[in-house]
Amino acid sequence: MNIAVYPGTFDPFTNGHKDLVQRAATNIFDKIYICVAENTKKDAIFSMAERIDLAKKSLAGIKNIEVIGFSGLLVDFAKELDAKVILRGLRVVSDFEYEFQMSSMNKKLNENIESIFLTPSESYAFLSSTLVKEIAELGGDISRFVSPEVKEALKAKYK
Ligand code: PNS
Repeated sequence: MNIAVYPGTFDPFTNGHKDLVQRAATNIFDKIYICVAENTKKDAIFSMAERIDLAKKSLAGIKNIEVIGFSGLLVDFAKELDAKVILRGLRVVSDFEYEFQMSSMNKKLNENIESIFLTPSESYAFLSSTLVKEIAELGGDISRFVSPEVKEALKAKYK
């Protein structure tokens, strides 16, 4: 079985994340674990439980996926799940350096796990959780960028 992990902070999960999971789950992998990282250097506005819940709701209806939280090293978690692939999205050139560094380090930590990158669909190339939060905080319309559940959760957060 062709299993991948799709790790991230997902603070919060966006339509860009969903697009990537949907395409990868339909066209490439038998099973994808969406792995929500607990210990992140970024200051998350949503708790781990909230980020998991919102990812689950945003992905409702997509088959062969599962959303789970993790702490500790990603490669160890991937091994536990029997995943041979780390899936990441690569949007713009500025993503490259960070992704290259992470994938090289993960390869050093476990040489049996490969990182694979998908580019976003055109309409999501610009989308990021950080921008979505900023727009929501300033009262802008984020309906096109996130699920209704995430939109409501952001609204409540910034009330
Ligand atoms: O969405 P993000 O914040 O870019 O995701 C980063 C994430 C969660 C994939 C990365 O920080 C990670 O893998 N964290 C788990 C801890 C780990 O394995 N660190 C070593 C990476 S080389």
